[in-house]
Amino acid sequence: MQRRKIGILTGGGDCAGLNPAIKWAVKTALDARLAAERATQFEVLGIRNGWEGLMYMDPSYTSDPRYIMPLTEELVRTWDRYGGTNLGSSRGNPYNPKHNLSSTVMQNIENLGLDSLIVIGGEDTLGVASKLYREGVGIVGIPKTIDLDLPGTDYTLGFETALNVIVECVDRLRTTAGSHRRVFVVETMGRHAGWLALAGGESSGAYIILIPEHDFSVDRVNELILEGHRSGARYEIVIVAEGAKPAGGVEFIRDSRIDGFGHCALGGVGDFVADSIQSATGLETRSMILSHLQRGGVPCAYDRRMGRYFGIAAADLVVDKDFGKIVAYRHGAITAIPIEEVLGPPHLVNTATQYDIVRYNGRRTILGHRA
Ligand code: F6P
Repeated sequence: MQRRKIGILTGGGDCAGLNPAIKWAVKTALDARLAAERATQFEVLGIRNGWEGLMYMDPSYTSDPRYIMPLTEELVRTWDRYGGTNLGSSRGNPYNPKHNLSSTVMQNIENLGLDSLIVIGGEDTLGVASKLYREGVGIVGIPKTIDLDLPGTDYTLGFETALNVIVECVDRLRTTAGSHRRVFVVETMGRHAGWLALAGGESSGAYIILIPEHDFSVDRVNELILEGHRSGARYEIVIVAEGAKPAGGVEFIRDSRIDGFGHCALGGVGDFVADSIQSATGLETRSMILSHLQRGGVPCAYDRRMGRYFGIAAADLVVDKDFGKIVAYRHGAITAIPIEEVLGPPHLVNTATQYDIVRYNGRRTILGHRA
């Protein structure tokens, strides 16, 4: 029987769906019946805290319990029910130009005896994975991010659960907004992509949706609010993506400190929109930043299912030594694409076909038909 060792890690912002993916990758790799069929016995090591596990594990050891966690079928049996990542995550970047630890990472991969690494992450984490692949590491990726901005895949783990959080929060806000005749501005995450705001606004029936892909006019927002008020609305819900900005303005930054990948934290546009509405219309307006609530909580059914499919597919790629790929969901099917494909220009909302730049909302029908 051949013996092989797989490492698995989760990097970047956490989300729901990571634990299901880990569980199913581990189960598929360790399944006794499959092991006999493949004549290969796998061992799976969980790497803790994303790339930091491999950056900070002592390279003079062949293992390190602070950063390495052997995974068994019994251990991961219930993981698909839990949010976040039981392996931990970080935004640590081994190729950070200010402190490059990529050779330590390579050394630790060798010391641990890993012939492959399943990397679950978004653009940044998979970017590191792609560099390691070019250095000879057997990489397989799984796409995740609530921002849904990776090109090459129609789904990234975490998106649907985050969407459900937005809908639940807006449903709750509606009752109190109605009682008090208030306008509520709800700020969602998504970084430079408007998917969460757009799908969240469409699913919850928001009156106005503002996305980064189309700079909004403050006057137009106020006009729409007054129009709604005149036609008898007791309250309004406005959804604004954290990356949205007024025409001629710049993105709102919550924290200008940058992480290992050069990102700072966005936030604050919701307060700006609420203040503008209140001062221009006189209607009482409040704002609410959903922030990390969108990344928390148990995975919804869809993320459990997609985590399962992605985890199984990733393990299958490892078995076949089909490295340098990420699993993807395309046109209703699970598939695999070269890792470089998810590192291209981000997948953003198409404002010609998916967004109504007059009503500031989702486009309602087939392009070319009456909207
Ligand atoms: O990329 C996922 C995401 O949640 C973005 O939507 C958001 O801008 C960012 O991460 C927040 O990151 P952090 O958890 O580091 O504040």
